Amino acid sequence: MKKIEIDTAGARSKILVGESWEKAGTFLPGTGVIIISDDNVFRLYGDKFPPFPVFCIKPGESSKKLEVIELLAERLLGAAIDRSGFILAIGGGVVCDVAGFLASVYMRGVRCAYVSTTLLSQVDASTGGKNGVNLGNAKNIIGTFLQPEFVVCDPSMLMTLPDEEYFSGLAELIKTAVIGDEKLFRLIEDHYGEVLSRDRELLELLISMAIEYKASVVSEDERETGLRRVLNFGHTFGHAIEMYKSAKHGFAVASGMELAVSYSFNRGYIDASEKERIIALLKRFDLLRFHDIPDDQLYQYIVHDKKKTGSEIYFVFTSGIGRAFAEKVPVSEIFDFYRQNRKDR
Ligand code: GLY
Repeated sequence: MKKIEIDTAGARSKILVGESWEKAGTFLPGTGVIIISDDNVFRLYGDKFPPFPVFCIKPGESSKKLEVIELLAERLLGAAIDRSGFILAIGGGVVCDVAGFLASVYMRGVRCAYVSTTLLSQVDASTGGKNGVNLGNAKNIIGTFLQPEFVVCDPSMLMTLPDEEYFSGLAELIKTAVIGDEKLFRLIEDHYGEVLSRDRELLELLISMAIEYKASVVSEDERETGLRRVLNFGHTFGHAIEMYKSAKHGFAVASGMELAVSYSFNRGYIDASEKERIIALLKRFDLLRFHDIPDDQLYQYIVHDKKKTGSEIYFVFTSGIGRAFAEKVPVSEIFDFYRQNRKDR
């Protein structure tokens, strides 16, 4: 088991990688706890949940909306949860986002923690304190920062994930490797078979490495005023592809990364061999998807992107495996690049 800490101005978050999720109950207060989960996770693991009331949401991105927050807040109030309450999320990115957002606004804030059940949420979504909901087609437009007190990342929970969900998470793992850790990239390349077979020990190592990198970034720049922007690598086009194609987040980000790598190459930031190495790894795990967003729709997605300021957008480039930086680029240039590179196959 590895304990990784994220230290920010007002909080310390402990990420426990390799801890048994069934021990989560021992870290909780004795009373006032509410568990938020989804129907799928509850069906698989509900009989072993800690003994507190459970509110389940519908699995999937459609639950990331304000109506769901309102309904859950009503249920918390109905259960007489007051400011001393504690919300434990047991689920993937959507459950943790919804529960974290609720915890940050309910009675102006209650304590929270997560048991993170998907690869995507273990390597990215559940750590770092970002949470939020969508507004129509605009992703994560309403949200807050709240560091969970602890996050349990138990790789044994990944064995029950559907393939699509597992590979979606793998894309975020590769993203972390590309932007911050060349060694992690090499480990994924060298252990292709064990990654496919979900080798538990290897997963624990890869997840720890990804979280260690993310923890270092978030500890330096919790509110994304600089360095943290690099975590959005692949996400400018990725979010647009996710919304337009209703693709799973990781696959959309993988295609967004392919575009971002090519864009980095076009600008002379990365050489051809490194570009090919990154794209080859994405292809090897079959992560790339077709995308053919029409101009008018792309415009809508980009103008609502949180990374946009005025007529420019912070676009994340890589300058080689393990290195990334954000640079302001005119929105018009982003459109032109997409028009020349859309995958209309
Ligand atoms: N998922 C990007 C971030 O946490 O900043």
